[in-house]
Amino acid sequence: MSVRRLAEDQFQPAAFAFSDENAVWADKTIQKYPAGRQQSAVIPLLMRAQEQDGWVTRAAIEKIADMLDMAYIRVLEVATFYTQFQLHPVGTRAHVQVCGTTPCMLRGSEALMSVCKSKIHAHAFERNAEGTLSWEEVECLGACVNAPMVMIGKDTYEDLTPERLEEIIDVFAAGNGASIKPGTQIDRVFSAPEGGLTSLTTEEPKARTRAKKANAETVSAQVDAAPVPPSEAARPKSTDAETNAALKTPATAPKAAAKNAKAAEQQPISGTGAAEPAPKAAVKAETAPAAKPALTDKNRPAGIEKPVAPDDLKMISGVGPKIEATLNEIGIFTFAQVAGWKKAEREWVDGYLNFRGRIERDDWVKQAKALAKGGEAEYIKVFGKKPR
Ligand code: FES
Repeated sequence: MSVRRLAEDQFQPAAFAFSDENAVWADKTIQKYPAGRQQSAVIPLLMRAQEQDGWVTRAAIEKIADMLDMAYIRVLEVATFYTQFQLHPVGTRAHVQVCGTTPCMLRGSEALMSVCKSKIHAHAFERNAEGTLSWEEVECLGACVNAPMVMIGKDTYEDLTPERLEEIIDVFAAGNGASIKPGTQIDRVFSAPEGGLTSLTTEEPKARTRAKKANAETVSAQVDAAPVPPSEAARPKSTDAETNAALKTPATAPKAAAKNAKAAEQQPISGTGAAEPAPKAAVKAETAPAAKPALTDKNRPAGIEKPVAPDDLKMISGVGPKIEATLNEIGIFTFAQVAGWKKAEREWVDGYLNFRGRIERDDWVKQAKALAKGGEAEYIKVFGKKPR
């Protein structure tokens, strides 16, 4: 973590003023707060000043302090506390904030910083030769679950490898940062498990649901038919006794039923009373996950030897490095192969990858057809966006 100070005098402009549009916005923002609480607008105003000039200058701090009737030191304290505020001129196209806190460090943030050093500048906060890029190390940015990660502007880029960060920096350097999808950069949804779900993958088996219902009905029938306990039967038949019995029965019966139901659930399912027993083996069979299709299955798509220049299957949305490696293992190396898969073959691959219909949902065949026909250009033409 670096010491956060204002930039040297040589970088500081003589004055700061919000643009007309931002000045209107600033007035409205200040008015959102009750009388005497205008200082609460300090963070939004500092952030707007940064968005306008690229970084927070001393003149901006003083101007905002005047607008909010605050001492300069109070605004300086805020600006120096939050690493979101840049106190030095930073890259005009990207300022890469690399998280160096423990989870990210254990998952490779040092390698990410080496990339920044080699591609941007050997020292944090120094800009590259063109003035377009800069970087720094920051503390936890709250995306540890997908560590390691960086933040650029308001977006985070997660699950990074040094190679992927190099690509991202190159795209930002070319001025196309907006084309990169923020968030995880691998084959996962948000922070869900990599490669698909690993738990809660099956619905409650119907056989078990039926058996539970049958047991509950049996217990209920037994409770209804239960003889009155001798102590109850022997009671004198006075009005009070009847009332008491009537009041007592509903209170004790559900308790007994609940107890029996619990016991029944814990017991192996057996044929008591009217309930049809659910064979244990049948329950087991329905709970077992779908078997992985055999490699010898006739629907397995034909594989090929690895070509000299295999296609980058990761360009297909839904294919990450792990899935690509699995596809390669079964001889799938080109877009043309994927484009030619028939329904049965798609189902085979979907089952083999345990994808639960994702190949259809992501329409791999359509994507692969576009990529096979004209690469990225054709993909953009068909889908209106770049492949990943
Ligand atoms: S440790 Fe890096 S985001 Fe939390």
